[in-house]
Amino acid sequence: MKRTPIDVFEYASQILEPLPRGILLNTAADGKMDTMTIGWGSLGEDWGKKVFTVLVRESRYTKNLIEKNPEFTLSIPVKGSDVKSIIALCGTKSGRDIDKFEACNLTVVPGHEVSTPAIAELPLTIECKIIYKQDQDPEAIQERFKSGYYPNGDWHTAYTGEIVAAYLLEEDED
Ligand SMILES: Cc1cc2nc3c(=O)[nH]c(=O)nc-3n(C[C@H](O)[C@H](O)[C@H](O)COP(=O)(O)O)c2cc1C
Repeated sequence: MKRTPIDVFEYASQILEPLPRGILLNTAADGKMDTMTIGWGSLGEDWGKKVFTVLVRESRYTKNLIEKNPEFTLSIPVKGSDVKSIIALCGTKSGRDIDKFEACNLTVVPGHEVSTPAIAELPLTIECKIIYKQDQDPEAIQERFKSGYYPNGDWHTAYTGEIVAAYLLEEDED
């Protein structure tokens, strides 16, 4: 696979437009990998670094892995790719119970600057090293979001990753 570098701010719309329908957050630790669908996140600039912040609930297996290894990769579909069934499975099944890479027949590609993987079928890839994390403070969340989103107190932790590589995965020519 070939990696063609991209500027994340020039690709902002290609990164953020698919986000509400779901992109993949890949993590790895202790010889295990996982991927889960995320629909929330922010691309921006903190401490003079390009960053992407993801929000992961306490109950996710992803939380276990990201806490052990503070790196993650985002895999984003490009126009024309049909990833509906991948996004659905990775957003409903847990890596505690199944290997989602195998279940979705995903082509795992090693990360370039990080130890978490990229995925050929969702070729727009962002690699991040976590520079800040914060558990959500339930008291600071507006009342209108509290009951709807957190009936069981399954709060989010925000992980801000410095973007250390961003590229499009493409097939080698020969
Ligand atoms: C469209 C969509 C968006 C989602 N966004 C998030 C999210 O931003 N944060 C989160 O913690 N879970 C989110 N989820 C739920 C997780 O993807 C789901 O619970 C998954 O099974 C967790 O996998 P894991 O236990 O292997 O980490 C989303 C699910 C869907 C279908």
